[in-house]
Amino acid sequence: MSTEQLLDNTSETASSQTVPSPTAPAPTGSASTSSAPTAKDSEKSEVEAYFNSTGFDRWNRIYSDSEDVNKVQRNIRIGHQKTVDQVLAWLQEEGNLPQRSFCDAGCGVGSLSLPLAALGAGQIHASDLSEAMVSEASRRAGEQGIDPDRLQFTASDLESLEGRYDTVICLDVFIHYPQEPAEQMVEHLASLAERRLLVSFAPYTPLLAVLKRIGELFPGPSKTTRAYTLRESGIVAAAERSGFRLVRRSLNQAPFYYSRLIEFERV
Ligand SMILES: C[S@@+](CC[C@H](N)C(=O)[O-])C[C@H]1O[C@@H](n2cnc3c(N)ncnc32)[C@H](O)[C@@H]1O
Repeated sequence: MSTEQLLDNTSETASSQTVPSPTAPAPTGSASTSSAPTAKDSEKSEVEAYFNSTGFDRWNRIYSDSEDVNKVQRNIRIGHQKTVDQVLAWLQEEGNLPQRSFCDAGCGVGSLSLPLAALGAGQIHASDLSEAMVSEASRRAGEQGIDPDRLQFTASDLESLEGRYDTVICLDVFIHYPQEPAEQMVEHLASLAERRLLVSFAPYTPLLAVLKRIGELFPGPSKTTRAYTLRESGIVAAAERSGFRLVRRSLNQAPFYYSRLIEFERV
């Protein structure tokens, strides 16, 4: 598994959580009622709980300049910053930032939204499943003196997002989505985007698949949330079905971080 989470797991042993397989059967006795939580719902709840507790603490440190990170976490920080910098460079190249509206879906602590606001973006709606992440993002925005009228934060999952934005961006969130739900999510995010859609995810490669299998042979208390690598062809096909075409892509890497970034535009 190339994913940030798995590799980050190597460093932590306490208070971590496991997530049931997305294909696991629903709890006995409740499977026949339509309101019963599905395996997908249950996995999302686990992700939410994680990013409101130990995950918040861990990722808040990674996405900061804190010295309180280990070598793996420091490398994840470096790799992630490459993704953010690449997005900002592309957006600036396209220009016209003050006239454009943005949706930062799964914004974390605002690693993209804050610099984007500082560059003068007109309107940014940033949201995240985790209230802890959103409130930290909002705190950082206040600390940096960013006008709250131009950058709004909401605690929301991707599935509930509505509205229309010039550009929709979703970075390193699909790590929590298996292939088919990720493709459905690309279609949903595309429906919110008037002109541009940017997504990043851990791409599937045969080597990483082998590493993931090896990792699964050693289950233990250090597991956190499940992490998924995705087939790029499926992500591109989902965007194309939604009326978008691939404009450009980049692969952003550092040891323990491996993320494919793709920009799509409406045809
Ligand atoms: C690895 S962090 C990336 C954060 C941010 N996009 C960035 O690049 O800095 C993943 C984020 O996705 C959020 N997340 C996971 N599943 C989500 C969902 N279904 N809806 C919204 N946010 C989600 C987590 O709470 C976490 O903040």
